[in-house]
Amino acid sequence: MLEIPVDLGERAYTVSIGHGLSAALPELLADHRGRRALVVSNRRVWSLHGARVEKALRKLGPLARVLIADGEAHKDRATLAAIHDAMWKERLGRDGLVVAFGGGVVGDVAGFAAATWMRGVDWVQLPTTLLAMVDSSVGGKVGINHPGGKNLIGAFHQPRAVVIDPAFLATLPRRETQSGAYEILKCGVIADRALFKALADAPVGLVGWGRVEVENAIASAVRIKAEVVEKDEREGGLRRVLNLGHTIGHALEAVTRYRRFTHGEAVGWGLVGAAWIAHRRDLFAGSAFDSLAAAVDRLGPRPRVSDLSTARILAAIGSDKKAVKGRAAFVLPTRIGAVTIRPDVQAAEIRRALRVMNGREALTAR
Ligand SMILES: NC(=O)c1ccc[n+]([C@@H]2O[C@H](COP(=O)([O-])OP(=O)(O)OC[C@H]3O[C@@H](n4cnc5c(N)ncnc54)[C@H](O)[C@@H]3O)[C@@H](O)[C@H]2O)c1
Ligand SMILES: [Zn+2]
Repeated sequence: MLEIPVDLGERAYTVSIGHGLSAALPELLADHRGRRALVVSNRRVWSLHGARVEKALRKLGPLARVLIADGEAHKDRATLAAIHDAMWKERLGRDGLVVAFGGGVVGDVAGFAAATWMRGVDWVQLPTTLLAMVDSSVGGKVGINHPGGKNLIGAFHQPRAVVIDPAFLATLPRRETQSGAYEILKCGVIADRALFKALADAPVGLVGWGRVEVENAIASAVRIKAEVVEKDEREGGLRRVLNLGHTIGHALEAVTRYRRFTHGEAVGWGLVGAAWIAHRRDLFAGSAFDSLAAAVDRLGPRPRVSDLSTARILAAIGSDKKAVKGRAAFVLPTRIGAVTIRPDVQAAEIRRALRVMNGREALTAR
């Protein structure tokens, strides 16, 4: 088992990673023994893995569950209300415990329900997608979507523990696995050359990737996220480096109404775009651009971008939640393992990057 501390003073917690670790939940969550717990999951995850987790959690104390509908469309106010209703029905008090068991959607909405119930009850995360394991389960950002935009309603509410059992990944569709892998690759580009190399050398599409390699990659990505979050819990500055690839990525997701790309696929494209902008500014060597783009392509095919309107992509970048005065800050790589933040990226640079992305499309069309 690998253990990664997230040192946030009185909100500190540990991320535990290990194949089969869900069987050890009674020990890992021993501090919470006897508390009334509410598991939040969705039908799909519960039917695949619920029995195992339920058995382990029942050893800790009284347990109830609420299953939400599957999909990003349900990270909404109706689902939040349903969870609050379950909390009410189960008489979950201040001393209650919420267990988020699922992907990023379950984690975000269950965490927000925990943040808002009685002004905040404790919660733990049991992520079941690779994306949730390496990204959304660490850092305490929780929330739901508003009809006007993604993640507009939210809070910071750190979990008390994160337990990552990569055994759950066995049933994850390949495209979802690849989605998480782009985020791991992103972490490598931001801060960890060895992690980048591990992904660049992994089997194409990660098919048949070994158990130890997967665990190590998850741990490295979590370590990077934890270090950044420790220094900047509420995204005052440094935490923005985690947005590498996300300025263009979010825009691609928005202009396709979140239907064409998985989040990771959009980030994969965004990494290529940001790397090209950096290269054109002489911040990032041509050879580094080539190896980054090759590593992105190796993770799997991505839906096309060339038929999307450049004007709409530029408009989406300008209206990004994180944009200031219509201008989004770009995180740009300076080498594999280091990045810088630039607020002054011009539309012409983004246009050129989109052309380069289009040019690579034939290599990678899904
Ligand atoms: N809070 C944060 O810091 C943060 C960071 C990144 C992303 N997010 C959020 O995370 C969400 C995306 O998360 P996601 O990619 O995990 O999507 P998701 O939660 O929708 O899961 C993807 C699909 O995989 C299924 N699934 C989950 N585990 C499975 C398993 N073990 N086997 C088979 N199928 C399984 C789900 O039911 C779903 O259909 C977005 O809403 C995004 O905003 C949050
Ligand atoms: Zn992301």
